[in-house]
Amino acid sequence: MKYKIRKLKPRNYPEGFYIFKKGLFGWSLLKEFDDCNNVSRLVGFNTEHEGLECIFKMTNRNTKTQPAYIHPTAVLGPNVIVGDNVYIGPYCVIGTPPEWEGREGDGKGVIIHDGTRITDLVTIHAGADGPTVIGPNCYILAHAHIGHDCKIGANVRISCHASIGGHTVIGDGVNVGLNAVIHQRQTIAEGVMIGAQAMVTKGLKTEPYKVYAGNPAKYLKENERHHNYTIYMKDSI
Ligand SMILES: CC(C)(COP(=O)(O)OP(=O)(O)OC[C@H]1O[C@@H](n2cnc3c(N)ncnc32)[C@H](O)[C@@H]1OP(=O)(O)O)[C@@H](O)C(=O)NCCC(=O)NCCS
Repeated sequence: MKYKIRKLKPRNYPEGFYIFKKGLFGWSLLKEFDDCNNVSRLVGFNTEHEGLECIFKMTNRNTKTQPAYIHPTAVLGPNVIVGDNVYIGPYCVIGTPPEWEGREGDGKGVIIHDGTRITDLVTIHAGADGPTVIGPNCYILAHAHIGHDCKIGANVRISCHASIGGHTVIGDGVNVGLNAVIHQRQTIAEGVMIGAQAMVTKGLKTEPYKVYAGNPAKYLKENERHHNYTIYMKDSI
């Protein structure tokens, strides 16, 4: 099932950022970039084409790390940048237009950093003000939704069916429980655990390494079981 990636033959390319296009005979290289700092630069390029372009960061040449794996049924919109060792599972939809009335045409893509695992049926919308960003070594479980312009830190776990409203900033090491809902434009502090089924309202102020749960979510306790998934994807593909 790794055919898309194998046809990219990443070892043939030097380090850098590339846009590939899927055609009848597999993937072909459209353009390469020195860096991805100026994503708006990429937007101008990508709007010339319809869907299915994605940008793979190839930093794995001559190292033991692996390129991303993207399931054939996943749909990636324009300006989706996928790091090394990223896994994108079946039926994920990533980088489609922001659900922001009047800003749907302003999609600036999604950046998924190295080692992040995104399982089945996850949806991640393109940002409108800038790209939606998923940090390194995150684990995003089935049916989770991440709204436009979210900035997700490193080693974050987002459990099944959790919904993260747009513009939300989630700190490193946060764990969002099953079915939790986070109000748009919230900020979740580093190392926080959000309990299953929690409703994080716009007024909740979170402090690092604490547990919040309930509807509306309230402080429950210290987060003694703060997880660390840093190692997770390193050797598992
Ligand atoms: C919030 C959570 C971390 C607390 O776990 P815990 O430390 O073991 O806490 P306990 O089960 O001992 O419960 C402590 C209290 O919090 C309450 N509580 C626990 N989880 C709650 C939740 N999600 N929402 C509301 N209240 C909750 C309990 O009823 C209990 O209340 P009480 O003291 O009045 O009896 C845990 O219940 C939870 O929601 N984990 C997320 C699970 C998940 O999503 N896993 C992903 C699997 S892929």
